[in-house]
Amino acid sequence: MYRSKIAGIGYYVPERVVTNDDLSKVMDTTDEWIQERTGIRERRYGQKHHETTSSMGAKAARIACERAGIEPSEIDFIIFATLSPDYYFPGCGVLMQRELGITESEAGALDIRNQCSGFIYALSIADQFVKCGTYKNVLVVGAEMHSMGLDFSTRGRNVTVIFGDGAGAAVIQRSENESRGILTTKLHADGTYAEKLAFINPGAHGGYHMDHLDEKVDYGYPPADTYGEIFITPKMMEEGMTYPNMEGQFVFKLAVTKFPEVIREALQEQGLQTSDISMLIPHQANLRISQMIQRQLGLKDDQVWNNIQKFGNTTAASVPIALCEAWEAGKIKEGDLVCLAAFGSGFTWASALIRW
Ligand code: UT7
Repeated sequence: MYRSKIAGIGYYVPERVVTNDDLSKVMDTTDEWIQERTGIRERRYGQKHHETTSSMGAKAARIACERAGIEPSEIDFIIFATLSPDYYFPGCGVLMQRELGITESEAGALDIRNQCSGFIYALSIADQFVKCGTYKNVLVVGAEMHSMGLDFSTRGRNVTVIFGDGAGAAVIQRSENESRGILTTKLHADGTYAEKLAFINPGAHGGYHMDHLDEKVDYGYPPADTYGEIFITPKMMEEGMTYPNMEGQFVFKLAVTKFPEVIREALQEQGLQTSDISMLIPHQANLRISQMIQRQLGLKDDQVWNNIQKFGNTTAASVPIALCEAWEAGKIKEGDLVCLAAFGSGFTWASALIRW
């Protein structure tokens, strides 16, 4: 077995800045509410019709490749994590491959649907491939274009104000130094509460999971013996059922339990302590969540990277964007112990320990 490392990282966020005040012009919300509850001041939105999840992913990927000292054509395998794909299918992995102009290599492309934990899940898969010697250069991307699928009426305010667009990428390669690189990854899931944070329609569920909803919903499906109108019905469109929903407080309570748990699990396996962590990169879900984790782990302010204030919650992109920002700011140095952690829809949660 080899050890794998992050050989290059990059991120891209779109130019357009959307402030809390901008949102308060289209829905009943305030800068004060958003900052107090989430820490978010502003987020970025991609340029509609000119940018997509896969095109932003490609921009981040190019930077990651350059920093890893490889051409995109040298990538052996692509892993793309997103919950806001360009198409229902095919996935963003192949679209980004085309965008990067590397279809000739016919490198495999895998899409990951693990929402906020997507990047760490993707990293873990890349780690296995590189450790085993299957692939030399694996490109791991987390990207989201949330702004195309949010409810900008007051009805959607509890979700919409939180999310932003962006992309982060990393090239995973074999580490020359056995003691450096990805030490471990821990992945978990519990589908019991799948609907507590979900984007249900369009989908092929046909109302099947109704028992798991707090209230019965009439999706407006035609009679069961008719064809068509499976993914989306006129009623869903008319009544705004085609947006993400979240039971915020429920998610919050689980997040502050599962984050420290999965971080400690990884540390314990490696015989390390919380005090060994040089930099914690938590998924940027809510500044209050990050602060609670920081307190629980006894970390200082300069040991936890937060950028939700500027970018909001970019789901699968949030961990690689934050990691890249911290690295660019010179806050991650050779030999540092970097911990990545995430919790989100599924529920899925995960951590990774990297000796940089
Ligand atoms: O990344 C994936 C994982 N996601 C998370 O980890 C998110 C976890 N949850 C959270 O971050 C928080 O629960 C939220 C930020 C989503 C919400 O904060 P909260 O303190 O839990 O607020 P709440 O949902 O309990 O709502 C409190 C009040 C409600 O009004 P009433 O019923 O008290 O009159 C909401 O209707 O705030 C209202 N509200 C808003 N008011 C102004 C909800 N959204 C907004 C808004 N602006 N945008």
